[in-house]
Amino acid sequence: MSLIINIKNITRNFPMGNEVVKVLKGIDLEIERGEYVALMGPSGSGKSTLMNLLGCLDTPTSGSYELNGKDVSNMTDDDLAEIRNKEIGFVFQTFNLLPRTTALENVALPMIYAGASKKERTERAKEVLTQVGLADRMDHKPNQLSGGQRQRVAVGRALVNSPSIILADEPTGNLDSKTSVEIMSLFNKIHAAGNTVILVTHEEDIAENAHRIIRLRDGIIESDTKKEIVV
Ligand SMILES: Nc1ncnc2c1ncn2[C@@H]1O[C@H](COP(=O)(O)OP(=O)(O)O)[C@@H](O)[C@H]1O
Ligand SMILES: [Mg+2]
Repeated sequence: MSLIINIKNITRNFPMGNEVVKVLKGIDLEIERGEYVALMGPSGSGKSTLMNLLGCLDTPTSGSYELNGKDVSNMTDDDLAEIRNKEIGFVFQTFNLLPRTTALENVALPMIYAGASKKERTERAKEVLTQVGLADRMDHKPNQLSGGQRQRVAVGRALVNSPSIILADEPTGNLDSKTSVEIMSLFNKIHAAGNTVILVTHEEDIAENAHRIIRLRDGIIESDTKKEIVV
């Protein structure tokens, strides 16, 4: 057994004027390498707040977070940025691609920060775009692509540095149901290749793709169920 995520009693408060909004109220969470997890829960229950912590985009108010054996709960922004680039691939609901930039350049971007040469970046980005089914769209800019294709570019960008975890916050939230199914089969393939995948969704049929479903309610974990693996 090898834990990729080990979280103990994490809280996250946000100051709001003179008040403090308590969003995460004590989360314990262990995730093993290679798991496929869906995070569910009502709007406002703290899913994105937790994903941002998991993805090292934010740090907890209290509690500890070990990612891949390393304590990341008290790191500086620079150290977190480095961990994020190396360990995390993040996919957002709104794709978040650079608009005037080709699919190839969007995917290659995280490799610039990782210090790869132009040749390495181009080769790897082509490989990843082929993997996500966009071999014939590498020179297209986001506005020349459909929503599903944009999300494929974003998934490619998340994969390019071979991260330890793929995090996706409502990755099908802006897609029609047919395209959602296509994107989910891409996540299924990524998981089957040995990656750890954690995604947020409010749709039960999307969550059914995962092997474990964690439900948040009002900043705490309400339930955590693993599917029986039938052999
Ligand atoms: N930066 C912030 N400042 C203040 N409140 C926040 C901040 N981020 C999130 N919240 C509050 O935390 C709660 C949970 O938000 P979020 O994690 O986005 O929920 P979910 O993704 O489950 O819909 C919401 O009530 C939201 O208003
Ligand atoms: Mg959210």
